Amino acid sequence: MKQVTNKMSIKLESRSVNESFARQTVAAFVAQLDPTMEELNDIKTIVSEAVTNAVVHGYRDRLGIINITVRLFEDNIAEIKVKDSGCGIEDIERARQPMFTTGDEQRSGMGFTIMESFTDKLKVQSKLHKGTQVTLIKKIRGREERQ
Ligand SMILES: Nc1ncnc2c1ncn2[C@@H]1O[C@H](COP(=O)(O)OP(=O)(O)O)[C@@H](O)[C@H]1O
Ligand SMILES: [Mg+2]
Repeated sequence: MKQVTNKMSIKLESRSVNESFARQTVAAFVAQLDPTMEELNDIKTIVSEAVTNAVVHGYRDRLGIINITVRLFEDNIAEIKVKDSGCGIEDIERARQPMFTTGDEQRSGMGFTIMESFTDKLKVQSKLHKGTQVTLIKKIRGREERQ
């Protein structure tokens, strides 16, 4: 097991105005791993998708609390967890399919597909009426290795 080198967590109300706060806060924390702009944008996108899902799906008809935890590991690995205590997902495998959505026509059904493509690993845990936890793992390669 790799050692944790740093960690932080925040709790937010599930208001869509908090999406940009979450996105920027996580990106600011991960910035200590010296990511490229592209990697930082990937982090912002995946946090945004996960938090949006908690807001619009998890807490569809009410306000709730979203927990975000970020842990940094040796070898520049970032692990981001976004957890809600909302309605949960009935069929996780189906929910992860591209273009599957239970939302309205504004939703593309591509959130999980985007999260998967911008990370090294995506784990979705969910229990109906209990909530959902999404774990995103991304290795930050940074500028050095690109040269
Ligand atoms: N936090 C969550 N709580 C409950 N259901 C969720 C959550 N996240 C995703 N889902 C379910 O998975 C589906 C697919 O999510 P996603 O790929 O992000 O597409 P979209 O958000 O556009 O519907 C959602 O339509 C919803 O049914
Ligand atoms: Mg979504």
